[in-house]
Amino acid sequence: MNRSRLAAVLATFCLLAPLAQAGPEEDRAAFLATFARKLPGVAVDDYVYGSLLDNADARSHYEDIMAFPPFLPDVERGRDLWEKPFRNGGTYADCLPDSGRMIAGKYPQYDPVEDRVITFEMLLNRCRAAAGEPEYGYGDRATMGLLTAYARSLSDGMPMQIRVEGPGALAKYEAGRRLFFRRIGQMNFACATCHLHNAGGVMRMETISPAIGQAAHFPVFRGGETVYTLHMRYIRCMEQVRAQPFPAGSEAFNDLEYFHSYLSNGLPLQASVYRR
Ligand code: HEC
Repeated sequence: MNRSRLAAVLATFCLLAPLAQAGPEEDRAAFLATFARKLPGVAVDDYVYGSLLDNADARSHYEDIMAFPPFLPDVERGRDLWEKPFRNGGTYADCLPDSGRMIAGKYPQYDPVEDRVITFEMLLNRCRAAAGEPEYGYGDRATMGLLTAYARSLSDGMPMQIRVEGPGALAKYEAGRRLFFRRIGQMNFACATCHLHNAGGVMRMETISPAIGQAAHFPVFRGGETVYTLHMRYIRCMEQVRAQPFPAGSEAFNDLEYFHSYLSNGLPLQASVYRR
C-alpha cells in the first residue's frame, strides 16, 4: 500500500484514542480485545508469528527456513562470545542468576534501588563491567546483537513474565506506554497506529504484526542474515516514519521495552527467528 493510501485508510479507520488508563492488565486486555476484532480467527498463541500470522504459505516457508536457519553460524558466533571467559576467568554463566538459563522472560525488570528499568542486555553488560571488561554497544550487531541471539535462546520456551509492581515500576511502564501512543515523525504515526489499530493490515506488502507477541521472539534475523535486537527494530520503525530515533540502550527504549514486553506476558520466548 502506498503512503497516501495508507494515510487515507488510517484516517478512515483509525482514531488514535489512547485506551482508558487503568493499569497494565487492563491495557493488555484492551489490546487483546482490539486484536480479536482485527485478527478474527487467529489464536493469541499465533501472534508470535508476527507478519506471518495469517498466511499459511509464508508460515510453511518460515518453518522450512527455521529447520536449517541460514543464520546458525551467527548464533554460533554468539555462543563463542558467551563461552569465552573474561580476563578474570569468569563467564556470563557464573555471573547471571541460574547460569543465565530460563531468565530472559523476567526482563526487563524494574530496579527500585536505581529507579530504572534493567533489560536483559544490560544484565549482560553488567557482567562484563563487573569483570573489568568494556561494555558492548547496544547498537552493535557483531557483539551485543549476536551475544543476545545466543544468550536469549537459553530461555526459549519460557513464558514471558514481566512484573509491574509499585509506583516506581508503574511510572516507567507508563513512560513506555506514552511513547508507544505518541505520534512521531514527519508521518505523524505512533507505534499504536500500526501495531494496535492497524494490526493485520498490509503495508509495503507485509502484514503489520500485533504488538502482543513481538517482544517474545527477539532478536530476529532479517533477510535471514542481519540480526536485529528489539531496540534495533524500534529504530528501524522510527526511521520508517521519519522520526529521529532514540539510541539503542537509551532509557526511552528501555521503558518502551518494559511496556512492550509486558504485553507479551504468558507467550513463550523464542530467540533468533527468521524475518523477511
Ligand atoms: C507506519 C507503520 C509502523 C509504525 C508507526 C511502527 N511500525 Fe513497527 N513495523 C511496521 C511494519 C510494516 C513492520 C514489518 C512487518 C511486521 O513484522 O509487523 C514492523 C515491524 C516491527 C517489529 C518487528 C516484528 C517482528 O516480528 O519482527 C517490532 C518489534 C515493531 N515493529 C515495533 C514498533 C514500535 C515499538 C514502534 C514505535 C516506535 C513501531 N513499530 C512503529 C510498521 C510500523
